[in-house]
Amino acid sequence: MESSTSTGRTGSWALYIALLAAWTAMLGSLYFSEVRGYVPCALCWYQRILMYPLTGLIAFGILRRDRHLPFLVLPFSLLGQGVSTYHYLIQKTTIFGGPTACAAGVPCTTAWINWLGFITIPFLAMIAFLIITIAVLTAYYSDQPSEKNRMPVRWPVVAIIALALLIYGGVYGQAQAAKEAAATALPVTVLEGTEDAEHNPVEPAAPSATLEEGKLLYAQACAACHGPNGEGIVTLGNTLVASKFLTTNDDAAVLAMIRAGREPNAADNASGVAMPASGGRPDLTDTQLTAIIGYIRNGLPQ
Ligand code: HEC
Repeated sequence: MESSTSTGRTGSWALYIALLAAWTAMLGSLYFSEVRGYVPCALCWYQRILMYPLTGLIAFGILRRDRHLPFLVLPFSLLGQGVSTYHYLIQKTTIFGGPTACAAGVPCTTAWINWLGFITIPFLAMIAFLIITIAVLTAYYSDQPSEKNRMPVRWPVVAIIALALLIYGGVYGQAQAAKEAAATALPVTVLEGTEDAEHNPVEPAAPSATLEEGKLLYAQACAACHGPNGEGIVTLGNTLVASKFLTTNDDAAVLAMIRAGREPNAADNASGVAMPASGGRPDLTDTQLTAIIGYIRNGLPQ
């Protein structure tokens, strides 16, 4: 009896872990898109479609003490794992045809985050789906059908959801307040480096091989947000042909800006949309980015 009670416990804890993982994943993804301003790509949307219903499904399953909950969860979590693994592989490898694998809107290869060099958003999704899969399987197999009252107590469901919403609400509210404060602070911030432009000689036109490379890389890494001709795309990226930033900053400063990306609430952000660090392509070298900058300056149709 002792031991079956403790396996029953494992089952309940496992379901709570699944619930927590689903809520963390949903609110984390909303944090990235709504607070940080990262634009979800098509594959991100499929992962959301598979993850978000789990927040309710698992909660109701626990509340109704439904033994069949794992069978309802698994189709979502396994499919989600498939999509996020595929997404991660196209970000990090070229086995599915490289950077142009999914080109409409934000390129799916855009890595908004790249923590420690391998943790990207689809990587986090992959982990969350995996935790959920393992947790519901654990719950199912540690469950004794004959045992009454083996399913978890209910109050933690409400507690987890309330806590998750509270944290998210706090972070979101704070970010909103910061945005408002930034909007009223300085109307226009002139960037440092402006004075550099004066004694920066007119750059010699880049050699055509570099220009060709820059053109190719631009099309792969930047065009989806800045437009095929650098004209900009509303809600994704601003114009580069009529960019004051580009005319008043030298290559090194532009390179530094591209490497760092630009937060939506940065003083010099005019559109309130985030630019991912390195344009979401941490794999590009300084030389490659400099080739892109050369192409933007000298190769784009003006
Ligand atoms: C996911 C969309 C996205 C991608 C991909 C992207 N950018 Fe951006 N970029 C932005 C946004 C958004 C801004 C900031 C807009 C603002 O400040 O209002 C920006 C700003 C910039 C600026 C500053 C322009 C100015 O006038 O302030 C440069 C330069 C730039 N990007 C270059 C690049 C290059 C080069 C690449 C490819 C390696 C790239 N971007 C990829 C979205 C993107």
